[in-house]
Amino acid sequence: MKSAMWSRRAFLRTFGALGVAAYAAKTSGLERIEAASQAVAERSAEEVAKDELYWREIQLAFKLDRTLINLNNGFTCPTPRVALESVWRYMDMINMLPVYYQGIIARNVETIRLRMAAEFGCDPEEMALTRGASESMQIVQNGIDLKAGDEVITTEQDYPRMLTTWDQRMRREGIQVTRLQFPVPTTQGDLYQRFEKAITPQTKVFHFCHITNLTAQLFPVQRLSRLARSRGIVTIVDGAHALGHFPFKLRDLECDAYGVSLHKWLLAPIGNGCLYVRREMIPKFWPLQAAPERQDDDIRKFEAIGTHPWAIRAALGEALAFHQAIGAERKAARLRYLTLRWANPLKKYPRVKMLSNLGEPAETWGVAAVNIEGIDVRDLAKFLMDKYRIIVVPLVGGAPPNQVFDYQAIRVSPNVYTTLEEIDTFVMAMEDALKEGVPANLAAARRGPIEGVDWASII
Ligand SMILES: Cc1ncc(COP(=O)(O)O)c(C=O)c1O
Repeated sequence: MKSAMWSRRAFLRTFGALGVAAYAAKTSGLERIEAASQAVAERSAEEVAKDELYWREIQLAFKLDRTLINLNNGFTCPTPRVALESVWRYMDMINMLPVYYQGIIARNVETIRLRMAAEFGCDPEEMALTRGASESMQIVQNGIDLKAGDEVITTEQDYPRMLTTWDQRMRREGIQVTRLQFPVPTTQGDLYQRFEKAITPQTKVFHFCHITNLTAQLFPVQRLSRLARSRGIVTIVDGAHALGHFPFKLRDLECDAYGVSLHKWLLAPIGNGCLYVRREMIPKFWPLQAAPERQDDDIRKFEAIGTHPWAIRAALGEALAFHQAIGAERKAARLRYLTLRWANPLKKYPRVKMLSNLGEPAETWGVAAVNIEGIDVRDLAKFLMDKYRIIVVPLVGGAPPNQVFDYQAIRVSPNVYTTLEEIDTFVMAMEDALKEGVPANLAAARRGPIEGVDWASII
């Protein structure tokens, strides 16, 4: 067996002749990560998850503000330098003569469709590139024909904007929307049964998250899709937090449509998303912006949005390459390792309650939710920021059209660039809160500790 660490010898064998500093200057982050991944290729993802020398290479690929500890990566994530620099390059290029270069880049981006489809397991003709999950989801939510009385079954813990989209159709066209509630954490069997029991003769659509943006509750997508298909129901899945976070293939989910934010876990520049639509279903969804009839069964009809920054989309290619250089299995194993590193010591305290499934087989990777009995989570989040400069997001249920749930938690989401020191500081801060309490000042906490940032908008 190979040594348990990416040894200094292996590192020097790879980088030795040039000298590490000179090598770093000469190579892009991507080449370094590919070399680092090659050096650990024979070891399991779980072993590499604990190899700090390997993850140091990943950390160095980003320009971050390390004066703050960012444990709210569920919002949107920093993109690696290699992807950010490519945005500037494509911007410069297009800006030289937009009428000429924009069209060239737009055609070339077809290669990214092919690569995305190959990586995430679908036909390229099923993969539309969009600006984020909101756009992807609303294309299919607003694009499906429904008449007054038709029913959509979704959950109270789906994303607020997506719930608002169905609410608007309810007001505008008289469709019915049934929102299911569920406890957290729960089992996939429980979620299946809740949907199965809720079906009525009017049910036309199932809409749910692959994992929620709150506690990262995992849904049984394939089972629910099969159930839906057997009853003539369309399945629309919100995969904003799933793709690029943990490994799976889109075609294996068997759903009809699946929307994603690529600026979350794929670490693409902000303004990237994708929409998978099962081939036979493409003609069943109208695009948000009108397309000619000849495009009825063409996935590209969902992308026709007029002039937009192609540089952002072109840079998705580098973000994808970065993801592939780490490898989906290694990334998921590291995210799980980081989560268990804070959750395991904290869950021993009787007042600490975990709201995410931490057991095996893995259902939780880089997003988990926790609370401390007797402490309002808004006060806790403010304390973590004020005293320790740690950013987390407090989850508190709202009223329709927002998410409605009866628990409180802080959501903790590290990412591949998070250091063990940062995780351990979070554990220390939570232990401090447990032992000493936190200042209760709900009014201030409600406004949020980050000036100008509305808590409710950062989940
Ligand atoms: C579950 C879920 N769906 C949809 C979205 C919207 O994504 P975007 O802001 O990329 O449009 C988010 C964003 O946080 C989300 O968490």
